[in-house]
Amino acid sequence: MKIRQSLSLLLLLMASPLANAGAVVSVRTDQPGARINPAMWGVFFEDINFGADGGLYAELLKNRGFEFPEPLMGWIKISPSLAKGELSVRTDAPFAPANPHYVRIMSEGTAPFGLSNEGFRGIGVRQGEAYNFSAEIRGVSGTPKLSVRLYGGDGAVLDSADLQNFTDTWQKYTATLHPADTDPKARLAVLLIGKGTLDVDFVSLFPEHTWKDRPGGLRADMVQALADMHPGFIRFPGGCIVEGSVLARRYQWKNTIGPLEDRKVLINRWNYEFVHRPTPDYFQSFGLGFYEYFQLCEDIGAQPLPILNCGMACQFNSGELCPMDQLDVYIQDALDLVEFANGSATSEWGARRAAMGHPGPFHMTMLGVGNEQWGPQYMERYARFSEVFRVKHPEITLVAAAGPSPSDQRFIYAWQQMRSLKADLIDEHCYAEPRWFLDHANRYDSYERSGPRVFMGEYAAQSVATVSPKNRNNLECALAEAAFMTGLERNADVVRMASYAPLFANTEAWQWTPDLIWVDSLRVVLTPSYHVQSLFARNRGDRVLPVALDSMAPEEARRVYVSSVLDESSGAVILKLVNAGPRESALSVQLDGIRHLTKGTMTVIRADSLGEVNSLDYPDRVSPTQSDFSPTDAKFEVTLPANSFTVLRVGTAK
Ligand code: AHR
Repeated sequence: MKIRQSLSLLLLLMASPLANAGAVVSVRTDQPGARINPAMWGVFFEDINFGADGGLYAELLKNRGFEFPEPLMGWIKISPSLAKGELSVRTDAPFAPANPHYVRIMSEGTAPFGLSNEGFRGIGVRQGEAYNFSAEIRGVSGTPKLSVRLYGGDGAVLDSADLQNFTDTWQKYTATLHPADTDPKARLAVLLIGKGTLDVDFVSLFPEHTWKDRPGGLRADMVQALADMHPGFIRFPGGCIVEGSVLARRYQWKNTIGPLEDRKVLINRWNYEFVHRPTPDYFQSFGLGFYEYFQLCEDIGAQPLPILNCGMACQFNSGELCPMDQLDVYIQDALDLVEFANGSATSEWGARRAAMGHPGPFHMTMLGVGNEQWGPQYMERYARFSEVFRVKHPEITLVAAAGPSPSDQRFIYAWQQMRSLKADLIDEHCYAEPRWFLDHANRYDSYERSGPRVFMGEYAAQSVATVSPKNRNNLECALAEAAFMTGLERNADVVRMASYAPLFANTEAWQWTPDLIWVDSLRVVLTPSYHVQSLFARNRGDRVLPVALDSMAPEEARRVYVSSVLDESSGAVILKLVNAGPRESALSVQLDGIRHLTKGTMTVIRADSLGEVNSLDYPDRVSPTQSDFSPTDAKFEVTLPANSFTVLRVGTAK
């Protein structure tokens, strides 16, 4: 996260001894309350908006194995006027039975002839970086060469390499390309030079520089944005994608591990979900599968929180049910996932993990049963999972669904049922206008303190309306979320985890807005909401501190929100202060129980207008600014700028 130093803000927010401020914020630093879950603030990943293919998964070619229902989608035939040749899609004697289609390129040799891939709305390449090409190739006749050419958006050749000496069996051929220029809209062509015929499959192009430089790995800049947030957990793989519009199209983790060519391509439900945002070229390659997911969690110190299908397809679509007498297949999948993640390297599924390069366990401790399910059919399916897991894996915390709304009849029914089923964690979802989040900052103050705990598993303020394509990731939404999060934090005994949703969106291929992080083929934009999430996670603290707000005018109480935590290792008292309105707010802060103050910091996110957003061209319009903050007395005054979120870390010595 970029944090700018700003003298002007320092002056604006300068701490001074208590003078004539209005409202008083008292923090009982000597009465630490609930322990905050180290995994409190996490992220929700779903392959929506080109989040995986075309996003986090760094493969640059779309439909690399010709497995889309239109096998040449994403490809075009390159046949200059002098060329004489034929392209055909075949399935006989394929390279990989799970991905049976391949192309046969036959050329008379009169001119280069072949096909070119458009990438995911263009291939993003950088001058000075290397790109690894690979393809499975089988020679059929003649001795042609295969020219691999990277073209810029303007048609200029950025680099090329020739492959030759093909045999009559499938073999992997590789080349490294070094583009002469940076281009967000490059294309990759494979062209036969000379007379002959070749079979070609699994054509792939990856940046050499991926996250941790793993070959075939994840996009480094996108993972870095996640790592910088310090998320406590990663929920994966969604989202409705878990459910599928019908059960045959549900997410099945076993189809996402092992050699890439064994992972069957599946249509992505977001391909056709929204008539107003159709994305006909959206498919799941599962190159980012469950192994890569666990590895990502390990890399960035986040706990895994897989969500699996519970025998129900999306209830907004078919609502197809797996009959109860066939549910064991789904339960067994869940048990096998625990073994894949945690089992010894000699167990059946642990051995699969070890074969992929990770003999040790991934330490999975949580599992979601279904995504956004509701109704009696869900309760009976959840109950079966729960019975089995209580016996076989009591160490795994199960997450139960409560439907798509935070307050309707489906939600109330779910909570009643889940109480009697003694569920561990209930997954609440909420997409609503900013005012809802402000008005519900105290939602959990009155929740029962016994029984299931809350996982606020999907939430985001919607500037216009849920699923409106006009929603913007503006400051108003971010501040409303921050205000709501002060309430989650104050109630950390009840609310054990929370995640904003969705996480990623490609600016040229999204279905759902708002989203936490936007990308194009080369750039990453962090939204105001990202900065809020990140500041909460990086200033999580260990214990909730009681906060009292006095003498606040009613108008101010509708826009000013406060919470506080204690960071035990550093001794810092952390205050999160939201001013979601157009006037500044002068607060007198009183840290009861503090004797000695040391150096601290103040971090502020603000903008002149609540409508302000970050964009690819202006990525830092709303971003955190950090300055020193060292009050000399435990009573001090702070002025919160209009439209702002402030995190104060007050250093204390015991
Ligand atoms: O976050 C987008 C979608 O919203 C999720 O897939 C689903 O769980 C919810 O309805």
